[in-house]
Amino acid sequence: MGEIVRLQKYIAMSGAASRRAAEKLIEDGRISVNGEKIIEQGVKVEIGADLIALDGKEIKIKNKKYYIMLNKPVGYVSTAKDQFERPTVVDLIREDLGDVRMFPVGRLDYETEGLLLMTNDGDFTYRVTHPKFHIDKTYIATIKGGVTKGGINKLKSGVIIDGYKTSPAQAEILDAFDGHTMIKITIHEGKNRQVRKMFEAIGCTVTALQRIQIGTVELGNLPLGRWRYLTSHEINYLKNK
Ligand code: URA
Repeated sequence: MGEIVRLQKYIAMSGAASRRAAEKLIEDGRISVNGEKIIEQGVKVEIGADLIALDGKEIKIKNKKYYIMLNKPVGYVSTAKDQFERPTVVDLIREDLGDVRMFPVGRLDYETEGLLLMTNDGDFTYRVTHPKFHIDKTYIATIKGGVTKGGINKLKSGVIIDGYKTSPAQAEILDAFDGHTMIKITIHEGKNRQVRKMFEAIGCTVTALQRIQIGTVELGNLPLGRWRYLTSHEINYLKNK
């Protein structure tokens, strides 16, 4: 489903008139929705689905920026197209946002699940993914067996992966069950397979990995494989980090 907005907002977003002038256009009976003249204020329309016209001529929203979060399942690649024809995260939003060229903001591995931001705004992607902006990313890693206090301390102070020392991280044990341990870890870098490699560096094997938070933006209870629009608060926060 496309984004639902008030008719006057749609008209303003299209650039056809300011929001106040749009109200006047509606009042004057110059706007129609799906061929039907609308004269009351506050009618809601769906971007991309409803046909809005001014004096009988369609008005469209161009260059609109979209910002969403997806709860990526395991088994999807974080690219628009995969050379091995595996399912992609874009497939999961195609039904609703198929006309918009959306791309993932950074990556989650094929076997990693959880919070993935997607947008068609390149500046936003730059701000969220560039290491100089230091946005924390929080993961829950499930590892085989246990982990020592020394291991956790090493994750916190930095370990060597691919000849590079990772920046200090936050790490804490959340739970242990059936021969596995769940650890919450927060990093602000985004090297390839960084979390998995950090655990490898302390002798642990990650059996499941989920991203739950980027900065203060949380995955919450969004179901696996589903997406939602970011709130304006979340967008502003991420843009201004
Ligand atoms: N670290 C990983 O190892 N994998 C991811 O997908 C993200 C961070």
